[in-house]
Amino acid sequence: MGEVDPAFIQEPEHRPKISYIEGKGVPLIDLSPILSSNNVSAIEFQGLVKEVGDACKEWGFFQVINHGVPLDKREKIDGASRKFFAQSLEEKRKVRRNEKKVTGYYDTEHTKNVRDWKEVFDFAVEEPTIVPASHEPDDKEVIEWKNQWPEYPPELRETCQDYGQEMVKLAYKLLELIALSLDLPADRFHGFFKDQTSFIRLNHYPPCPTPELALGVGRHKDAGALTILAQDDVGGLEVKQKTDGEWVRVKPTPDAYIINVGDIIQVWSNDTYESVEHRVIVNSERERFSYPFFLLPPLSTMVEPLEELTNEKNPAKFKAYNWGEFIGNRSRSNFQKQKVENLQI
Ligand code: SIN
Ligand code: FE2
Repeated sequence: MGEVDPAFIQEPEHRPKISYIEGKGVPLIDLSPILSSNNVSAIEFQGLVKEVGDACKEWGFFQVINHGVPLDKREKIDGASRKFFAQSLEEKRKVRRNEKKVTGYYDTEHTKNVRDWKEVFDFAVEEPTIVPASHEPDDKEVIEWKNQWPEYPPELRETCQDYGQEMVKLAYKLLELIALSLDLPADRFHGFFKDQTSFIRLNHYPPCPTPELALGVGRHKDAGALTILAQDDVGGLEVKQKTDGEWVRVKPTPDAYIINVGDIIQVWSNDTYESVEHRVIVNSERERFSYPFFLLPPLSTMVEPLEELTNEKNPAKFKAYNWGEFIGNRSRSNFQKQKVENLQI
């Protein structure tokens, strides 16, 4: 195993394939019909809604182009992120995340008990004043969600905040398309995200001497509502194809965003759309950067299948759960527990 710390080594069945043949990729969707208010025919718009619905059902993942996020905002956050991660570990650890502060820098994330080959910097998009539902306001256990900003680079804070606003705008547009694809009113999901706890993660995956043994992020599903990811031109994100369980690489597409449905939309839609497993491959030559935005509701939210999408023939497949408590002791087994075979109402 040479120089690699055994903490990073995946079990043989979870190691990535070294040679990889490019197959059919996740769908690429052009969002221009929702950007130009003029001359969009109803047929064109319905076509877009159907494309989004089909992608959510078949893949749980899709890429979007012509999404309305200015390229310079993406380039700015990318530039600032590269400067931040290029610093010494000592500098970066000045804004280290800890048990009390949920945002900031850390390099010891584990997924399914194996260490991920990456370092990250997290920041909350809205910095809500949060008291988890299970806590009293003066409770010592209350966790601080206020962002920790590093001194260097000085532009990081503003670029991150600007970019966050763009992500929220895009997320709302995507939520509308997803709601329409489920035959719900376009604004059906909007109310869930007042005082949202959404955050953005700056991911840096350094070159790895043994990419055949380790992963940038081990296999997992996203617990939130929706994820909007910017990946650079190195590539490495793999999605588990629903049809045959094969891992499919998401080809980097310039200025595209990768969208995936998380557990919350799976629950709201009562399994019509599923949160799909994915992972990140690393390589020995090039470092990789990626920037996911996680759309998350307030901690007090009760997550449960929407009334409109359940009935006698299609009863609720999940028990209601409190989002704050759920992420407080987050684990997949926790999510599985919410699933019920037959919920007696
Ligand atoms: C993740 O799923 O957590 C990261 C995705 C990526 O870096 O491509
Ligand atoms: Fe993820």
